[in-house]
Amino acid sequence: MAKELIRMKNIKKYYGKVQALNGVDLTVNESEIVGLLGDNGAGKSTLIKVLSGAIPVTSGEIYVRGKEIKMNSTTDAINAGIETIYQDSALVTELSIARNLFLGREPEIGSGLFKRMDIEKMNEVASELLREVGISKNIPPSTPIAALSGGERQAVAIARAMHFESDLIILDEPTNNLGVAETRGVLNFVRGARKSGHSCIFIAHNIHHVFQVVDRIIVMRRGSVVVDDIDPKNSTVEAVERVITGMDETV
Ligand SMILES: Nc1ncnc2c1ncn2[C@@H]1O[C@H](COP(=O)(O)OP(=O)(O)OP(=O)(O)O)[C@@H](O)[C@H]1O
Ligand SMILES: [Mg+2]
Repeated sequence: MAKELIRMKNIKKYYGKVQALNGVDLTVNESEIVGLLGDNGAGKSTLIKVLSGAIPVTSGEIYVRGKEIKMNSTTDAINAGIETIYQDSALVTELSIARNLFLGREPEIGSGLFKRMDIEKMNEVASELLREVGISKNIPPSTPIAALSGGERQAVAIARAMHFESDLIILDEPTNNLGVAETRGVLNFVRGARKSGHSCIFIAHNIHHVFQVVDRIIVMRRGSVVVDDIDPKNSTVEAVERVITGMDETV
Protein backbone atom coordinates (compact mmCIF):
# COMPACT_ATOMS: atom_id res chain seq x y z
CA MET A 1 0.00 0.00 0.00
CA ALA A 2 1.43 3.39 -1.01
CA LYS A 3 2.03 5.77 1.90
CA GLU A 4 0.80 9.32 1.47
CA LEU A 5 3.48 12.02 1.74
CA ILE A 6 1.70 15.21 0.64
CA ARG A 7 -1.97 16.09 0.52
CA MET A 8 -3.20 19.44 -0.77
CA LYS A 9 -6.88 19.95 -0.08
CA ASN A 10 -9.27 22.39 -1.75
CA ILE A 11 -6.49 24.86 -2.56
CA LYS A 12 -7.71 28.23 -3.85
CA LYS A 13 -5.52 31.09 -4.95
CA TYR A 14 -6.57 34.52 -6.15
CA TYR A 15 -4.20 37.10 -7.59
CA GLY A 16 -6.42 40.09 -6.98
CA LYS A 17 -9.56 39.17 -8.89
CA VAL A 18 -7.86 36.51 -11.03
CA GLN A 19 -8.58 33.03 -9.73
CA ALA A 20 -5.45 30.99 -10.51
CA LEU A 21 -6.48 27.90 -8.51
CA ASN A 22 -10.09 26.96 -7.89
CA GLY A 23 -10.17 24.20 -5.31
CA VAL A 24 -7.30 21.87 -6.18
CA ASP A 25 -6.83 18.50 -4.48
CA LEU A 26 -3.51 16.77 -5.02
CA THR A 27 -1.67 13.95 -3.31
CA VAL A 28 1.85 12.61 -3.71
CA ASN A 29 2.91 9.31 -2.16
CA GLU A 30 6.28 8.34 -0.76
CA SER A 31 8.84 7.44 -3.45
CA GLU A 32 6.41 8.53 -6.16
CA ILE A 33 7.34 10.60 -9.21
CA VAL A 34 4.37 12.68 -10.36
CA GLY A 35 4.19 14.61 -13.63
CA LEU A 36 2.15 17.82 -13.53
CA LEU A 37 0.98 18.87 -16.98
CA GLY A 38 -1.23 21.61 -18.37
CA ASP A 39 -1.23 24.42 -20.88
CA ASN A 40 0.28 27.85 -20.24
CA GLY A 41 -1.54 29.55 -17.41
CA ALA A 42 -3.22 26.34 -16.16
CA GLY A 43 -1.95 27.03 -12.63
CA LYS A 44 0.93 24.55 -12.30
CA SER A 45 3.56 27.01 -11.08
CA THR A 46 1.06 28.69 -8.78
CA LEU A 47 0.21 25.33 -7.20
CA ILE A 48 3.83 24.43 -6.51
CA LYS A 49 4.62 27.95 -5.28
CA VAL A 50 1.84 27.50 -2.73
CA LEU A 51 3.29 24.10 -1.77
CA SER A 52 6.82 25.46 -1.47
CA GLY A 53 5.76 28.46 0.64
CA ALA A 54 6.79 30.99 -2.01
CA ILE A 55 3.33 32.61 -2.16
CA PRO A 56 0.49 32.60 0.38
CA VAL A 57 -2.56 30.47 -0.33
CA THR A 58 -5.99 32.13 -0.33
CA SER A 59 -7.65 29.09 1.26
CA GLY A 60 -7.17 25.34 1.59
CA GLU A 61 -5.00 22.96 3.58
CA ILE A 62 -1.66 21.24 3.12
CA TYR A 63 -0.78 18.03 4.98
CA VAL A 64 2.67 16.43 5.14
CA ARG A 65 2.53 12.83 6.38
CA GLY A 66 -0.98 13.50 7.67
CA LYS A 67 -0.02 16.58 9.71
CA GLU A 68 -1.34 19.97 8.65
CA ILE A 69 1.46 22.43 7.89
CA LYS A 70 0.99 26.18 7.39
CA MET A 71 3.36 27.15 4.57
CA ASN A 72 3.99 30.77 5.49
CA SER A 73 7.48 30.85 3.99
CA THR A 74 9.89 28.75 1.97
CA THR A 75 11.60 27.89 5.28
CA ASP A 76 8.38 26.21 6.46
CA ALA A 77 8.38 24.08 3.33
CA ILE A 78 12.09 23.22 3.58
CA ASN A 79 11.63 22.26 7.23
CA ALA A 80 8.78 19.99 6.12
CA GLY A 81 11.17 18.30 3.65
CA ILE A 82 10.03 20.09 0.48
CA GLU A 83 12.70 21.50 -1.84
CA THR A 84 11.86 23.35 -5.06
CA ILE A 85 14.16 23.71 -8.03
CA TYR A 86 13.53 26.20 -10.81
CA GLN A 87 15.41 26.48 -14.07
CA ASP A 88 17.00 29.65 -12.72
CA SER A 89 17.36 27.91 -9.38
CA ALA A 90 18.36 29.85 -6.32
CA LEU A 91 22.07 29.37 -6.81
CA VAL A 92 24.51 32.18 -6.13
CA THR A 93 26.54 32.34 -9.30
CA GLU A 94 29.60 33.99 -7.80
CA LEU A 95 29.97 31.35 -5.09
CA SER A 96 31.50 27.90 -5.57
CA ILE A 97 29.60 24.67 -6.12
CA ALA A 98 30.50 23.58 -2.59
CA ARG A 99 29.30 26.84 -1.01
CA ASN A 100 26.04 26.66 -2.96
CA LEU A 101 25.40 23.12 -1.79
CA PHE A 102 25.48 24.25 1.83
CA LEU A 103 24.06 27.76 1.49
CA GLY A 104 22.72 28.74 4.91
CA ARG A 105 23.46 25.30 6.30
CA GLU A 106 27.29 25.34 6.31
CA PRO A 107 29.11 22.83 8.51
CA GLU A 108 31.29 24.57 11.09
CA ILE A 109 34.58 23.80 12.74
CA GLY A 110 36.15 25.17 15.95
CA SER A 111 34.32 27.13 18.63
CA GLY A 112 33.78 30.66 19.93
CA LEU A 113 35.85 33.24 18.09
CA PHE A 114 37.57 30.49 16.12
CA LYS A 115 34.35 29.13 14.69
CA ARG A 116 34.52 29.06 10.92
CA MET A 117 33.08 27.25 7.94
CA ASP A 118 34.51 23.79 7.42
CA ILE A 119 35.57 24.32 3.79
CA GLU A 120 37.45 21.02 3.60
CA LYS A 121 34.39 19.07 4.70
CA MET A 122 32.21 21.02 2.25
CA ASN A 123 34.52 20.26 -0.66
CA GLU A 124 34.69 16.60 0.27
CA VAL A 125 30.90 16.18 0.48
CA ALA A 126 30.43 18.26 -2.69
CA SER A 127 32.78 16.02 -4.74
CA GLU A 128 30.89 12.94 -3.57
CA LEU A 129 27.51 14.51 -4.39
CA LEU A 130 28.58 15.60 -7.86
CA ARG A 131 29.56 12.01 -8.60
CA GLU A 132 26.20 10.81 -7.25
CA VAL A 133 24.17 13.09 -9.49
CA GLY A 134 26.15 11.97 -12.49
CA ILE A 135 28.55 14.83 -13.17
CA SER A 136 31.34 12.58 -14.26
CA LYS A 137 33.52 15.36 -15.63
CA ASN A 138 36.12 16.25 -13.06
CA ILE A 139 34.80 19.62 -11.93
CA PRO A 140 36.46 20.81 -8.71
CA PRO A 141 33.86 21.77 -6.05
CA SER A 142 35.60 25.13 -5.71
CA THR A 143 34.42 26.08 -9.24
CA PRO A 144 32.03 29.07 -9.23
CA ILE A 145 28.49 28.34 -10.44
CA ALA A 146 28.95 31.04 -13.13
CA ALA A 147 31.36 28.67 -14.92
CA LEU A 148 28.82 25.85 -15.20
CA SER A 149 26.34 25.00 -17.96
CA GLY A 150 22.58 25.10 -17.34
CA GLY A 151 22.42 21.35 -16.87
CA GLU A 152 25.34 21.32 -14.48
CA ARG A 153 23.70 24.05 -12.41
CA GLN A 154 20.56 21.99 -12.37
CA ALA A 155 22.60 19.05 -11.12
CA VAL A 156 24.00 21.13 -8.26
CA ALA A 157 20.51 22.22 -7.22
CA ILE A 158 19.31 18.62 -7.31
CA ALA A 159 22.37 17.45 -5.37
CA ARG A 160 21.51 19.99 -2.69
CA ALA A 161 17.95 18.73 -2.40
CA MET A 162 19.19 15.16 -2.17
CA HIS A 163 21.91 15.90 0.39
CA PHE A 164 19.50 17.58 2.77
CA GLU A 165 17.22 14.59 2.57
CA SER A 166 14.27 16.48 1.14
CA ASP A 167 11.32 14.10 1.00
CA LEU A 168 9.78 15.92 -1.95
CA ILE A 169 11.76 17.55 -4.75
CA ILE A 170 9.74 19.84 -7.02
CA LEU A 171 11.13 20.63 -10.47
CA ASP A 172 9.34 23.36 -12.42
CA GLU A 173 10.33 23.08 -16.07
CA PRO A 174 13.89 21.97 -15.30
CA THR A 175 14.65 20.92 -18.87
CA ASN A 176 13.81 24.28 -20.50
CA ASN A 177 16.68 25.64 -22.55
CA LEU A 178 18.85 22.61 -21.87
CA GLY A 179 20.86 20.70 -24.45
CA VAL A 180 20.28 17.03 -25.24
CA ALA A 181 22.96 15.66 -22.91
CA GLU A 182 21.99 17.99 -20.07
CA THR A 183 18.32 17.11 -20.45
CA ARG A 184 19.20 13.44 -20.28
CA GLY A 185 21.12 14.17 -17.09
CA VAL A 186 18.13 15.86 -15.45
CA LEU A 187 15.78 13.03 -16.50
CA ASN A 188 18.23 10.55 -14.99
CA PHE A 189 18.24 12.41 -11.69
CA VAL A 190 14.46 12.36 -11.56
CA ARG A 191 14.42 8.63 -12.25
CA GLY A 192 17.10 8.13 -9.61
CA ALA A 193 15.15 10.11 -7.02
CA ARG A 194 12.65 7.30 -6.58
CA LYS A 195 15.39 4.74 -5.99
CA SER A 196 16.83 6.82 -3.18
CA GLY A 197 13.40 7.14 -1.56
CA HIS A 198 12.53 10.68 -2.65
CA SER A 199 9.27 11.81 -4.17
CA CYS A 200 9.14 14.26 -7.04
CA ILE A 201 6.72 16.64 -8.76
CA PHE A 202 7.98 17.18 -12.28
CA ILE A 203 6.54 19.98 -14.43
CA ALA A 204 7.50 20.09 -18.11
CA HIS A 205 5.89 21.09 -21.38
CA ASN A 206 7.65 18.24 -23.16
CA ILE A 207 5.22 15.36 -22.57
CA HIS A 208 7.75 12.88 -23.94
CA HIS A 209 10.14 13.78 -21.12
CA VAL A 210 7.37 13.37 -18.58
CA PHE A 211 6.39 9.99 -20.00
CA GLN A 212 9.97 8.79 -19.66
CA VAL A 213 10.30 9.34 -15.93
CA VAL A 214 7.03 9.58 -14.01
CA ASP A 215 4.78 7.02 -12.28
CA ARG A 216 1.61 9.08 -12.57
CA ILE A 217 0.43 12.11 -14.55
CA ILE A 218 -1.84 14.86 -13.22
CA VAL A 219 -3.38 17.32 -15.69
CA MET A 220 -4.51 20.83 -14.79
CA ARG A 221 -6.70 23.11 -16.82
CA ARG A 222 -7.78 26.65 -15.94
CA GLY A 223 -6.94 26.36 -12.26
CA SER A 224 -8.37 22.88 -11.69
CA VAL A 225 -7.07 19.34 -11.72
CA VAL A 226 -9.03 17.57 -14.47
CA VAL A 227 -7.40 14.11 -14.25
CA ASP A 228 -5.00 12.84 -11.59
CA ASP A 229 -4.46 9.18 -12.32
CA ILE A 230 -2.95 8.76 -15.77
CA ASP A 231 -0.53 5.84 -15.83
CA PRO A 232 2.03 6.58 -18.56
CA LYS A 233 2.47 2.86 -19.08
CA ASN A 234 -1.18 2.53 -20.09
CA SER A 235 -1.60 5.76 -22.02
CA THR A 236 -0.18 7.62 -24.98
CA VAL A 237 1.28 11.08 -25.47
CA GLU A 238 -1.56 11.86 -27.91
CA ALA A 239 -4.26 10.88 -25.39
CA VAL A 240 -2.67 13.08 -22.72
CA GLU A 241 -2.44 15.97 -25.20
CA ARG A 242 -6.18 15.69 -25.74
CA VAL A 243 -6.79 15.94 -21.99
CA ILE A 244 -4.50 18.97 -21.71
CA THR A 245 -6.31 20.83 -24.47
CA GLY A 246 -9.74 19.81 -23.19
CA MET A 247 -10.72 17.68 -26.18
CA ASP A 248 -11.08 14.59 -24.02
CA GLU A 249 -11.57 13.85 -20.31
CA THR A 250 -11.04 10.11 -20.48
CA VAL A 251 -7.70 8.44 -21.06
N1 LIG B 1 1.94 37.16 -9.84
C1 LIG B 1 0.79 37.04 -10.54
N2 LIG B 1 -0.12 38.03 -10.57
C2 LIG B 1 -1.28 37.91 -11.25
N3 LIG B 1 -1.63 36.83 -11.95
C3 LIG B 1 -0.76 35.79 -11.96
C4 LIG B 1 0.50 35.83 -11.26
N4 LIG B 1 1.14 34.66 -11.46
C5 LIG B 1 0.34 33.92 -12.24
N5 LIG B 1 -0.81 34.58 -12.53
C6 LIG B 1 -1.93 34.07 -13.33
O1 LIG B 1 -2.35 32.85 -12.77
C7 LIG B 1 -2.67 31.89 -13.76
C8 LIG B 1 -1.83 30.63 -13.55
O2 LIG B 1 -0.47 30.92 -13.81
P1 LIG B 1 0.70 29.86 -13.58
O3 LIG B 1 1.98 30.59 -13.68
O4 LIG B 1 0.44 29.11 -12.32
O5 LIG B 1 0.50 28.88 -14.82
P2 LIG B 1 1.38 27.67 -15.34
O6 LIG B 1 0.47 26.49 -15.45
O7 LIG B 1 2.60 27.52 -14.53
O8 LIG B 1 1.75 28.15 -16.82
P3 LIG B 1 3.10 27.95 -17.68
O9 LIG B 1 3.01 26.59 -18.28
O10 LIG B 1 2.99 29.00 -18.72
O11 LIG B 1 4.28 28.13 -16.78
C9 LIG B 1 -2.42 32.59 -15.09
O12 LIG B 1 -3.65 33.08 -15.55
C10 LIG B 1 -1.49 33.71 -14.74
O13 LIG B 1 -1.64 34.80 -15.61
MG1 LIG C 1 4.66 27.70 -14.90
